[in-house]
Amino acid sequence: MSVRDREIAIEVRNLWKTYVLYHHIVTSFKEVVLHFPRLFKKLRQSRFEVLKDVSFEVRKGEVFGIMGHNGAGKSTLLALIAGVIKPDRGTIKVKGRISPLLELGAGFHPELTGRENIILNGLLLGLTKREIMQRFDKIVEFSELGHFIEEPIRIYSSGMVARLGFSVAVHTDPDILLVDEVLAVGDANFQQKCLRKMEELRNNGVTMVFVSHSRAQMEAICDRIMTIDHGRVVSIEEINRHAEKKTC
Ligand SMILES: Nc1ncnc2c1ncn2[C@@H]1O[C@H](COP(=O)(O)OP(=O)(O)OP(=O)(O)O)[C@@H](O)[C@H]1O
Ligand SMILES: [Mg+2]
Repeated sequence: MSVRDREIAIEVRNLWKTYVLYHHIVTSFKEVVLHFPRLFKKLRQSRFEVLKDVSFEVRKGEVFGIMGHNGAGKSTLLALIAGVIKPDRGTIKVKGRISPLLELGAGFHPELTGRENIILNGLLLGLTKREIMQRFDKIVEFSELGHFIEEPIRIYSSGMVARLGFSVAVHTDPDILLVDEVLAVGDANFQQKCLRKMEELRNNGVTMVFVSHSRAQMEAICDRIMTIDHGRVVSIEEINRHAEKKTC
C-alpha cells in the first residue's frame, strides 16, 4: 500500500504559533506615561512568529522527518503535536497514544534513580505500575545502563539520559513516537541501535515523527522529510529508502 493511501495519524492545518519576547516590553514608568503609543507599537513588534501557516499530515505507520536550521521551529512543532503547548491559530488532530521524547531529560527527576524515573515516566505516559514492571528489565537492558540504574539521574552523562529516555519511550507501546534530536548525544553504537529499534517499531505500525540535523540518518529511516525555514514549510519530499540502500 502506498504511503498516500494510508490512514492519517497526525493532521496539522494552518498552524500559527507566536511567542511574546518580554525583554522588549520591560520599560520605565516614565516611558509608559509619556510614550504610550510608541510603547504599544513596540509591544506589537515584540511578538515573534515561530510557526507560520504550517500544514501537513503524517500517515499511520509512517516515519516523518523534520529538518531545518537552528530556531526554525522544529521543537515548537513537536511540542504542539504532543499537546505541551497550544497554537494561536490552526488545528492539530492526533489519532492514538503519543510517547513524546522531546527534550533531553524531560519527564525525569534529577534526584530520583534511573529505576525510580522509569516508574515515574511510565506512569506519566499512561501505564500502570504493573505494566511498567513487566517491561522494566527490557527497558534497563536496552539502555545498557547496568548498575547505574540505581544511581540518581543527576550523575548521568547526557548520553546516559538519552539512552534511558529513548528506552522508556519505545517500550511503552506508543501509537505515535515523537523523537526530537535526542539521538545526537548518544554514541555511534547507540544511535545505530535506536535506528534499528525505530525500524522495528515502523514494522509494527508505529507512527514516528523524527527531528534530526543528520541528513544521512533521516534518509536511512524516514519515508518523507519536511523542511522548515523560519517557521514555514518549504518542502515535503518522499524518500525512496530502498533505492538509497542499493546505491550505498
Ligand atoms: N518559550 C519561548 N519563548 C520565546 N521564544 C521561544 C520560546 N521557545 C522557542 N522560542 C523561539 O522559537 C524559535 C524556534 O525554536 P525551536 O526550539 O522550535 O527551534 P528548533 O527548530 O527546534 O531549533 P534547534 O535546531 O536549535 O533545536 C527560536 O527562535 C526560539 O528562540
Ligand atoms: Mg529543537
